[in-house]
Amino acid sequence: MPSAQPRTSNPGPGDFPQGFLWGAATSSFQIEGAWQADGKGESNWDRFCHTPGNVFEGHTGDVACDHYNRWKEDLDLMASLGLKAYRFSVSWPRIQPTGRGKALEKGLDFYDRLVDGCLERGIEPCLTIFHWDLPQALEDHDGWLNRDTAKAMGDLAEILAQRIGKRVRKWMPINEGPCIVDNGYQRGVFAPGRKESDKLVRQGKHTVLLAHAHASRALRDILGRDAIEVGFVHNPWPTLPATTDPEDIELARATFVRDAAWWLDPLWKGAYPAEEWARHGADVPEVLPGEMELIGDKPDFLGLNLYFAQRISASQNDRQPWRREEALKTDFGWHVEPDILYWVPKFCQDEWNPGSQYVTENGCAWEIGGLDDRHRLAYYREHLRSLARACEDGVPVKGYFAWSLMDNFEWASGYSKRFGMVHVDFQTQVRTPKASAKWYADAIRENRVVDAAMEIQFP
Ligand code: FCB
Repeated sequence: MPSAQPRTSNPGPGDFPQGFLWGAATSSFQIEGAWQADGKGESNWDRFCHTPGNVFEGHTGDVACDHYNRWKEDLDLMASLGLKAYRFSVSWPRIQPTGRGKALEKGLDFYDRLVDGCLERGIEPCLTIFHWDLPQALEDHDGWLNRDTAKAMGDLAEILAQRIGKRVRKWMPINEGPCIVDNGYQRGVFAPGRKESDKLVRQGKHTVLLAHAHASRALRDILGRDAIEVGFVHNPWPTLPATTDPEDIELARATFVRDAAWWLDPLWKGAYPAEEWARHGADVPEVLPGEMELIGDKPDFLGLNLYFAQRISASQNDRQPWRREEALKTDFGWHVEPDILYWVPKFCQDEWNPGSQYVTENGCAWEIGGLDDRHRLAYYREHLRSLARACEDGVPVKGYFAWSLMDNFEWASGYSKRFGMVHVDFQTQVRTPKASAKWYADAIRENRVVDAAMEIQFP
């Protein structure tokens, strides 16, 4: 498969194209806290956390990083790091307490101020509409297993488009469909903690795609297709070649594409992948007339959330993927494979040609080192090196968002996993940049992967 044309404007290894968007990401539930402030409704994650046994040591998002009250200080922090962009999400029940009907002004005011606060500091606000905190009232009606949720999300997008307008150029309706549906409705490890059949779960995935489509249509109708970019943020299951042998590369590419096609084909090819559809027998979603056309109105960019990877080889392990034992592992046990940021954007470009791509999340949970978080620094450095190579090869990756700006509520793991480049003391709410944040600020300033004398090597 051919890759995109080589880029000529890129002066050297580790350099990024001019205008490359350096950002950091967070999400509403993970940082805002203030779970009942100003009329906010209950979310399914509030309910999930408040139900014993779901989250590590009963942790909740009630206070989290108290960002709802400390947003100004947090924006100043971002500005001090030189961030060019900030990817955040809105809390749906803060805007519509029951997920429907009239919007709550106070909720909208909060995001209004946040957007202006970004712009005043020269930071581009990039808005995720749904990053998992669904109004409990919608969950009570089956949440993502109910087609009506998709329509409701279209209404939310309309409210946001009208209030926020063109101040936000990059809109991302959905964060990570697989985590929403597989973890929430099949494995039961995320809210709402259900364990449903394959058939229902596939219907849920279809509803998530539909929600993306309804929201995209509302945004494009109200704001104009040319004024904004709408992206689909996905976390594909990443398979990389074990070596650079062309047979390994081809097998990795084919395996990767097969795994990601269920989500990406409908958006960029207008149909579910035929072979997979046949393989699922009766466990396929009900698709109503007109829905595939709506879903197939291509997004303007693909957002990739990438953290870990598996390997595959044409000559080893019966051509089955495996995790490399020698790879360093994070506190989550995730295998660190920096060239994930080289291969995945390339494979996606070749298969779906999304035009623009962004790495919308990449990062690691490590306690080691504390503020001297050299493992995290090296993680960012090596991943960005791979991404620079993808750019050099002409893959149109336009930006990178580190996950995360600061330590936060890590879903079912509560506060036990720290992903931040800024340390948060959850007793005092004091924020302290770690070594990785300082390194990231240097990289942003120089628009390249700056070297750092760090002994950590990733095999
Ligand atoms: C992703 C989520 C994000 C964060 C990271 C570690 O799946 O989108 O909220 O939890 O994982």
